[in-house]
Amino acid sequence: MSAKKNLDLGSFAQDVLLGLSSKPKSIPSKYFYDATGDKLFQEIMAMPEYYLTRKEFEILENQHEAILEKILSKKEPFNLVELGAGDGLKTKILLRHLDKVGAEYTYFPIDFSGTVLAELKESLADELPNLEVKTIEDTYRGSLLKREWENGRPSFILFLGGNIGNFPLKEAHDVLDHLRIGTVFGDEVLLGFDLKKNPQTILDAYHDKDGVTREFNLNLLRRMNRELGANFVLENFMHWPSYNPVNGECRSHLVSLKNQNVDILDLNQAFEFEAHEPIFTEISKKYSLSEIKKLAQRSGFELKESFLDQDRYFADVLWERI
Ligand SMILES: C[S@@+](CC[C@H](N)C(=O)[O-])C[C@H]1O[C@@H](n2cnc3c(N)ncnc32)[C@H](O)[C@@H]1O
Repeated sequence: MSAKKNLDLGSFAQDVLLGLSSKPKSIPSKYFYDATGDKLFQEIMAMPEYYLTRKEFEILENQHEAILEKILSKKEPFNLVELGAGDGLKTKILLRHLDKVGAEYTYFPIDFSGTVLAELKESLADELPNLEVKTIEDTYRGSLLKREWENGRPSFILFLGGNIGNFPLKEAHDVLDHLRIGTVFGDEVLLGFDLKKNPQTILDAYHDKDGVTREFNLNLLRRMNRELGANFVLENFMHWPSYNPVNGECRSHLVSLKNQNVDILDLNQAFEFEAHEPIFTEISKKYSLSEIKKLAQRSGFELKESFLDQDRYFADVLWERI
């Protein structure tokens, strides 16, 4: 494959080429979310085993007043900046409260998906027509370096949903270093962390009995078949999530069940899979409360308060930039 040919490829094709040429093989998890993947993820969030969304919802529903107390007590206009806003379903709990108390602020949702941002903006125009919304289509790190929201007002940054858990620790450190660069003294950050807990509870969330998470992972192969002219045979791969209670990493893999070659027409290339060779698809790292405190300290923030659900499964923690 020549360099010229690489430049002509779309980013999905380039990332697949890079990922399947690496050892171990991998596909970036952001490619889960095509129309089918979006639908499957909605199903995952509704599964009894997938506690994460429900638990964070509970925290925000029950404790939003305490979470927003300090920024509101300043009684001055502020920026509400959200990294990886998605559909904003949980954020709307905070937005509705801010609307109710007549807070003066601008909401800056950041997401690298322009489609997601357009949908969010439209739904907010319906639900909260007086809210000033300025969308930023960018990555976490790109947006934190550019700080387009900077206007002399204090900022309250949201990084919800365990988004930080989608990075292994070293990369999470890098993202948090960017968070430090993107904030000034006194800014507050609300971060979501899925907590370490009974390993079986964690594993079940990624390995449900109805096989929805399996379908969600296999959809990556379907997507390559459809969009890149690949010929993956889905029955020849199995979904294999695992949880390591030592480092808190829950990792998902698709494991090749036999020696096989897969052709990808758009890449003009065949990829060889040995029997039992894995493709890494996703990480979701779990933290303990003491690890979260240390993480705040090493990143230049002070842990102000931790808000937990009743079962202590999930935490939204308030950090202040020092
Ligand atoms: C799993 S959703 C969570 C959305 C929301 N924060 C929640 O808690 O429900 C993650 C969102 O972050 C976006 N995202 C993931 N990685 C990103 C990155 N590196 N930069 C910007 N957006 C990202 C995705 O497009 C998606 O909309």
